[in-house]
Parts: sequence; C-alpha cells; structure tokens
Amino acid sequence: MKTKITELFGIEHPIIQGGMHHVGFAELAAAVSNAGGLGTITGLTQGTPEKLANEIARCKEMTDKPFAVNLTFLPSLTPPDYPGLIKEIIDAGVPVVETAGRNPAEYLPALKEAGIKVIHKCTSVRHSLKAQDIGCDAVSVDGFECGGHPGEDDIPNFILLPRAADELEIPFVASGGMADGRSLVGAMALGAEGMNMGTRFIATQDAPVHQNVKEAIVNASELDTRLVMRSLRNTERVLNNEAVERLMEKEKALGADLKFEDIIDEVAGVYPKIMHEGTMEAGAWSCGMVAGLVNDIPTVQDLIDGIMSQADEIINSRLKNF
Ligand SMILES: Cc1cc2nc3c(=O)[nH]c(=O)nc-3n(C[C@H](O)[C@H](O)[C@H](O)COP(=O)(O)O)c2cc1C
Repeated sequence: MKTKITELFGIEHPIIQGGMHHVGFAELAAAVSNAGGLGTITGLTQGTPEKLANEIARCKEMTDKPFAVNLTFLPSLTPPDYPGLIKEIIDAGVPVVETAGRNPAEYLPALKEAGIKVIHKCTSVRHSLKAQDIGCDAVSVDGFECGGHPGEDDIPNFILLPRAADELEIPFVASGGMADGRSLVGAMALGAEGMNMGTRFIATQDAPVHQNVKEAIVNASELDTRLVMRSLRNTERVLNNEAVERLMEKEKALGADLKFEDIIDEVAGVYPKIMHEGTMEAGAWSCGMVAGLVNDIPTVQDLIDGIMSQADEIINSRLKNF
C-alpha cells in the first residue's frame, strides 16, 4: 500500500510503532521495521546519549530498514540532555524522529539540517497546525482513546481525524485506538495516510517486556483504562490497578490542591518494575482503550501481515460490494 507516509519514510506499509517508555527498545523497533512498518526506539528510556547510541547500533544490527527515534519533551526540573541525544541521532544517520510533548521548534533546525524527517505527535488540530508551521514533515494525531497522554481536549478520533484532514496540508497518521485492518481502513477513510499504534504492539512476542504486561493487555477490556493526573494538566490514560485506584482516591480527596509529590509513589520510577519485572500493581502505566480489541500475542510480522491482508479484504471485497 502506497501512501504519502510510506513515500515520506521509505517504508512498505503505512504502520508506525509510537515511542513507548521502557518498551521501545531495539528488539521491537527492528521487528516493526523488518515487517515493513516504521519501528521506533524511545530516546529518553535509554537515559544518556551514549546509551541511545548503543541502542541505535543494536537496532542497525537487527534491521537494514528505516527506523525512528522518539524524543519526548517533558517539563522537567532537570531536563534530559536533548542536544546530546540529537547529536547521536544525527551521527548515527537515523532517518526519522518522532517528537512528542512540548513544541519541538528549538530542536527542529538541527534535525532538518541533517535531512531527518520529523513526525510530531499531538492531540489537537491547533497543535498539528503549529507543527506544520514550524516545519514538521508529518503529524501523528493522537485521539482521546490513546494510551499515554491524550491531552486535555478529549476529542475522539472520529472527530479529530476529519478535522485534521480539513485543516492540514502535511500528511498525518491516526494514533490512538488503532489495532487492526479495520482501524487502518477507517483511519484512511477519515483522511489519514496511515496509522500509529502503541498498546497493540506491546502485546506481541517481539516486545521486550514481561509476559505479565502482555497478558494484562489481552485480559483488559475497553472499560479498564482510567484517566489520571487531570488536575495537574498532565492527563494520562493508564490501565486500572490497585495503585491507580489509590491514586484516584488521592485525586478525589485533594482536588485542585493535588501536587505531583502526593502521587509520586504511584507514578515515579514504576516503568522498570512493571515492564521488566512484571510487577503489575507497582504503579500507573499507560495503556489505551484499544486493549479491548487485543486478544492475542502474535509476532510483529504476523500482526502487520494480518493488518494488511484484512485492510485489503475490506477495501477490495467488503466496501466494493456495497
Ligand atoms: C506503555 C506506553 C508508553 C508510552 N510512552 C510514550 C513515550 O515515552 N513517548 C511518547 O511520545 N508516547 C508514548 N506513548 C504513546 C504511544 O507512542 C502512542 O502514541 C499511543 O500508545 C497510541 O495509542 P494506542 O495505545 O491506543 O495505540 C506510550 C504508550 C504506551 C501504551
């Protein structure tokens, strides 16, 4: 399938794996790229520029296809060494960067000068237009359904994607709630040039996370996610568990007085415990409503092949016969 996104990134299928903290290591990124999509290493998870360089080198050993690095710009008292991370990305010749979080304008000139394509992930039409204005090549439009940070507007993809299509000139992919060939065809009907998936890719044999995490996603329904940290304007969609229930109790009790320090036990430093040790009650971790559509743990290759053949079947049989 050829779209503006496959052309832009030099990939076979219009399917992207979004950056995921403590999930987006070389194994997953390479598996997605080898299967014809665009895999993504999560920059901040690596910790230092040297470790990121090492992870990029590992990924290059596992694939000769294009892959991306995610750079998430978060408000932080001690910001990560973004210039150092970007230098390693440029020196290693990584062809695509997925930016997310704050406006990446400050870092765009260095990336663009190096010939890197930039896809910015954002949750609103106005942020997508801003990304277009500052020179991003594409955007990943993340609807209210998404795992992780859906923003504060709460606009689901059935509205957000056609709104983006009406306003944007650069190509965009649909992100949030995407799982299969139906998602891909639906997203493209609404104006997207492909799709980005997070949660679905965690429940694959290639995702380098504990089996408990994959099973938690398979066992979850679309009713099992919760929105937390809204009063901090840092809303996150997470899978419900004991820690999340505790966190929400604190949110209810403290209301607008809630500070990050009040919930630090439930949110800080929990990813390694969950993703690598499989301690599922350790804290709040991002997960999309799409968990309700995830019922198996295939290889990435089988997942992507299945998505493309289902999409083909829908376009060439089901829709054609109406
Ligand atoms: C466990 C997990 C961790 C994530 N970490 C990041 C991250 O560090 N940076 C980022 O830009 N997006 C992150 N995301 C968001 C994904 O890249 C993607 O946009 C989102 O999962 C799409 O929604 P879906 O889960 O419904 O597919 C994360 C998502 C999950 C599920």
